Amino acid sequence: MRPQDSPSIDSNVKRDLLARARAAATKAYVPYSEFPVGAAVLTADGSIHTGCNVENASYGLTICAERVAATAAVSSGHREFIAVAVSAPKVLRTTPCGACRQFLNEFRPGSSDMVIILDDRDSGDPVCLDDLLPQAFGPRNLDSAPTSDATSMPQRENHDG
Ligand code: THU
Repeated sequence: MRPQDSPSIDSNVKRDLLARARAAATKAYVPYSEFPVGAAVLTADGSIHTGCNVENASYGLTICAERVAATAAVSSGHREFIAVAVSAPKVLRTTPCGACRQFLNEFRPGSSDMVIILDDRDSGDPVCLDDLLPQAFGPRNLDSAPTSDATSMPQRENHDG
């Protein structure tokens, strides 16, 4: 996306979301990476839900800030995310990891793309989820999946004799 194509989001909303993400990062439990992250989800009704990364001694059970914020929003009854701000105090413009991009994609609003606001230590840098996760697999792909269409699948040749 070219700079002039930045997704539009109200500047007050952007500022609020970023402030909430920065505040959430202060709660991060990061004894292993020492890399705090905070996220703030704006839902279709205008409510904001936050999360921080929560690590675990097993490492693999670590949960990213974006997914903690997303599950908080869903747990409160929201399924359409308009925007998500992400703040990692140690690294400018930290973007959501691949797993979080896919997780957030599930809750794209029906009529527009989801805006991801990166913390640039300034007023925030908005990017579209579609640019971070092009040609995503999501709920709509399952809607159009044929129920049983084995006949149109290419047949695998059996070379085992
Ligand atoms: N992390 C997030 O919380 N969100 C991201 O999008 C990137 C990574 C966390 C996971 C881990 O606790 C730490 O940052 C270092 O990877």
